[in-house]
Amino acid sequence: MAKEQTLSLIKPDGVARGLVGEVIGRFEKNGLQIRALKMVRLTLEEARAFYAVHQGRSFYDSLTRFMSSGPIVALILEGEEAIRRNRELMGATDWRQAEAGTIRADLARDIEANVVHGSDGPETAAREIAFFFSELEKA
Ligand code: RTP
Ligand code: MG
Repeated sequence: MAKEQTLSLIKPDGVARGLVGEVIGRFEKNGLQIRALKMVRLTLEEARAFYAVHQGRSFYDSLTRFMSSGPIVALILEGEEAIRRNRELMGATDWRQAEAGTIRADLARDIEANVVHGSDGPETAAREIAFFFSELEKA
């Protein structure tokens, strides 16, 4: 299996609640290597562009307001099957359905403010990495 890269975001709730170290620690302990890392604050327009795939969904306006409400941490994670493994570590979107021991089951208590984002496939990962990181910022 070849190494793969995925984009992870620690959402505004995760940063505001002081969960950055906890979340990054879980990635590192589970063999996902950090290849790029930064804190940014999205404008509403940027959040709407990032989540354009959800345009028209009932939660789109609220989600993009939330994602632009404060600083977030963006990371490129690398490893074998990094996309699937990151999604496994995150747990289901709704923390009530997330498996015990996952980030969302352990740390989220809201379906929208659910601590982390992770790319859901290879094309999405490539697009999302390019959205946040220039070639120069990649280690
Ligand atoms: P993400 O894209 O953030 O990694 O999360 P995901 O794949 O698990 O979930 P997705 O279906 O892509 O939804 C994106 C984000 O929108 C918010 N959401 N709110 N109120 C709702 O019913 C609802 N559904 C989704 C969450 O913040 C979710 O992570
Ligand atoms: Mg998603």
